[in-house]
Amino acid sequence: MEEFERHGIRVVSGRDASARALRARELTSDPGGGSPSLLLRDGEDHARVRGVLREIIAGLEPFPGALRAGIETVVAGLGPAFDLVRDFARPIAGSVTAAVLGLDLDDAFLDRLEATTANLDVFGGTDRAGQAAAFRLAVQLSRAPAGPGGLTALRAAHAAGRLDDDELMFTPVVLAHAAYENSLNFLACAGLELASAPEPRSVRELATAICPARYVLRFGPDGPVAISLADGLPFGLGRHACPGSGVAVAEGEIALGALAKVLHGGCRVGEVRWKTHPVFHGLAKAVVTLPSGNR
Ligand code: HEM
Repeated sequence: MEEFERHGIRVVSGRDASARALRARELTSDPGGGSPSLLLRDGEDHARVRGVLREIIAGLEPFPGALRAGIETVVAGLGPAFDLVRDFARPIAGSVTAAVLGLDLDDAFLDRLEATTANLDVFGGTDRAGQAAAFRLAVQLSRAPAGPGGLTALRAAHAAGRLDDDELMFTPVVLAHAAYENSLNFLACAGLELASAPEPRSVRELATAICPARYVLRFGPDGPVAISLADGLPFGLGRHACPGSGVAVAEGEIALGALAKVLHGGCRVGEVRWKTHPVFHGLAKAVVTLPSGNR
């Protein structure tokens, strides 16, 4: 919060005040400057691009059986000691992102996707490394041969005149980042909760408690505003509310259900390190060790 105030950004918090701010007409997601990203726009252009993404995301509802089996295989393959970020959350969030796009994604791609976070930086995108990572991903995706799925659907929407050239270039990166970053952070934090205090909680309750996207930024007549989502709005609200929340909840139910079985006999957790980003709340590392004889 101090970080925002130091940058002259007003903070809105508390569930009711945040909900009102998210629905307010006078607060826009558009900082000016004509970004092709739907996260940084409002009005008809935002609604048009969002409509295309909603159709793509609907392709994963209900959650595909092969994707579920892939997640269960990742969890079944966890060894006697594993990192909740690298070995659990990353391959699972990566597999769902790959399914959203209709592409195979390798480790180098996921590294760049994680570096791209900085490009969505609330302080004006001044992080050159983050911008370079996003640019490289955009180029890579523009050249990738794609099977059935999001990338092919975005190209078809462009061919049909529903997306312009800039939107075709950037929307795949925005979609990949949206599908990956918050799920990665959520799954690792929820895994830590399960490992530390295994009383049963629904995925929606866990998402509310963890709230991986802590703030969203809006622009109003009196300057920028950071709206807190930490008081019960983990998927946001209003025009930009997460269109992937159903997919995220299904992904969490499958992954965390499988992990709970692995952790059933107890475990130790060590080397817990947190990320320090002001908006995206997540773990950098947390190593779970199962009692010998449990695996
Ligand atoms: C636990 C996981 C997730 C959380 C906590 C989360 C949270 C959010 C939040 C808070 C926003 C609103 C941003 C704003 O108001 O500026 C958002 C937007 C978005 N999310 Fe998610 N999300 C998650 C997973 C996903 C997944 C799996 C997908 C895709 C399958 C996805 C796709 C999107 C897209 C495309 C947007 C942009 C919507 C727009 O600007 O109109 N999200 N997400």
